[in-house]
Amino acid sequence: MSRQVVKASAPGRINLIGEHIDYNDGWVLPFAIKYRTYVEIARRSDPIISIESQEQDQKIEIPLTEIGPEKRRNDWSDYVAGTIWSLGVDTLLGENDQGGENGLDIKIRSEVPLGAGLSSSAALECAVALALNQLFSLKLSLIELARLTQRAENLYVGVPTGIMDQSISLMAHQGSALLIDCLDLSTRHIPFDLERAGLELLIIDTNVHHHLTDGGYGERRRDCEMALAQLGFSSMRQLDINQLELFKNSLSNTFYIRLRHVLSEISRVHQSVDALKAGDFKRVGQLIYQSHSSLRDDYQVSSPELDLAVELAIAEGALGARMVGGGFGGSAIALIDIEKIQGLKSKIESNFAENNFIAPRFFTSKPSRGAALEI
Ligand code: GLA
Repeated sequence: MSRQVVKASAPGRINLIGEHIDYNDGWVLPFAIKYRTYVEIARRSDPIISIESQEQDQKIEIPLTEIGPEKRRNDWSDYVAGTIWSLGVDTLLGENDQGGENGLDIKIRSEVPLGAGLSSSAALECAVALALNQLFSLKLSLIELARLTQRAENLYVGVPTGIMDQSISLMAHQGSALLIDCLDLSTRHIPFDLERAGLELLIIDTNVHHHLTDGGYGERRRDCEMALAQLGFSSMRQLDINQLELFKNSLSNTFYIRLRHVLSEISRVHQSVDALKAGDFKRVGQLIYQSHSSLRDDYQVSSPELDLAVELAIAEGALGARMVGGGFGGSAIALIDIEKIQGLKSKIESNFAENNFIAPRFFTSKPSRGAALEI
């Protein structure tokens, strides 16, 4: 009998708007990009988890008994081992002594650019989770898989990320951005037809790599929690941008501007949904640019490279531009007429060189499909 091989893939993401909002109980509006991570998983007869990555050019073999958060290896294989652990598959394999099939062979190939802030890690976790869900007939819903893969990242890999990246990787639809309520993970698909409007979304990777473990991300999370607690609230849902002014004098300036970013960004997400529904891309662009100013000045997570890329995009006629993802590096996006893309790329390249910044990389992507089993 030939052994069963399950194949699955999952995409990286761009967040159109709603940055640093997922862990603040708000709404976000990301979409999946065309770049995907592909996995193939089969059982094997010895208690070994073999993980082979084409991009890393590495094969790592972990004994089943060495899977667990306290035994993490601090390399890329933790995303895979963490997902196995979070879904309880290591326990299932351990119980399977009679059949003898208590190991896994996992092969990975990925197109998602690494270190660009496009969620290559969520793409890997989600592809592995979807394949394991099928191979072990776990019958977990996409929402459950999103929560379990986030748990893998938080508890196994050890980074305090929110739920956005895994949710969009699993639940995206081609041609739409996804409005996600990060409290209960309910979603609405919002059509986002760039082509019809003659627009493209240019992704500008500054090539400045950041790590969510570096501290700035966790610090922003703590600022928000502490500011809310000081006001006697337990969730951002209890407050809106108009009410914030009433509390201005009860907060330090840092806490006030952190909350001002979060609450104004949530309002911009809803306004962007309305603008997209009305086909008003000019308005979407304005909101995106406002989001950047807020991330730069109030949340203070931008970088000189991101700011330069955004300002050049606006000067070249983009409808809007902003940094995306956690910040402190990674990528910016520009919503721009297709025919202006080449000009913008050259401007960014020459200006980066003049400033002695690392040469940037460029990508484009329309909203693409979410995670799927592959035949
Ligand atoms: C990273 C995290 C997400 C989210 C963004 C900021 O990408 O993984 O959960 O918090 O930063 O919006």
